Amino acid sequence: MSKDISQDRSNASSTSEQDETFKWLQGLWANSKTVSGEQEYYERSASEYEQIHQTLQWRAPELCMKAIADYEEKSGVKLDQKGRCLDIGAGTGLSGEALRRAGFTGQVDALEPVEGMFAQAKKKNIYTEWFQEFLDDKKESKIPSATYDLAVSVGVFNDRSAKSSCLTEVMRMIKPGGYLAAILREAHWKGDFEDEIKRLEDERILSLKHVDRSDVYYDNVSSMAFILQKN
Ligand SMILES: C[S@@+](CC[C@H](N)C(=O)[O-])C[C@H]1O[C@@H](n2cnc3c(N)ncnc32)[C@H](O)[C@@H]1O
Repeated sequence: MSKDISQDRSNASSTSEQDETFKWLQGLWANSKTVSGEQEYYERSASEYEQIHQTLQWRAPELCMKAIADYEEKSGVKLDQKGRCLDIGAGTGLSGEALRRAGFTGQVDALEPVEGMFAQAKKKNIYTEWFQEFLDDKKESKIPSATYDLAVSVGVFNDRSAKSSCLTEVMRMIKPGGYLAAILREAHWKGDFEDEIKRLEDERILSLKHVDRSDVYYDNVSSMAFILQKN
């Protein structure tokens, strides 16, 4: 969520607390335009991540759960709430908490590369198995194939550290018929994730089931939430 924050802020109406937070973050984000810079940013800000995201009005976890609920209502399909879930880029566990609030009671595992974020998430009684790894488009993770009924990815996909080309690896981890529910900035959807999903649909690897656009990912930044089903 890092690269053009100053553009994101150009139309924002904000409080002075938000402005202070953005000013502080701009300093950190300035160095986070590479994968290692982003990792360092999360490492340095892990203990303040939740406070920062509260100030930013981070609504991504709830918006991702809303996309699941909207899809269920539209299709009449009910996702298996007792099924096994993977939280990709679990961070400090805000997305795992949202899963629990949405009624998912089964085992939830966490994939998260940054030690400091992991340490925060471990304080919460949500996750069972922990994979301290990157989702990588060139290398399979230690997660066995066809393991999950549902994977969620909240605020992780972008054009740098978790690219659209990683979707193939995510599909490997999901059971046939299982789902990925994800949310990302709209800027990364158009001409990138949207195109890769079409390509994977053409290859009959997955089906795009639902898309939800929102203007309030955090602050006034727009997002796309999407639901994929593995074929
Ligand atoms: C904006 S935070 C979102 C955290 C959490 N999902 C939430 O909703 O608050 C993005 C997280 O993705 C992790 N991340 C970044 N690249 C990743 C990758 N390639 N694979 C797995 N996690 C990654 C970061 O370390 C960070 O914890």
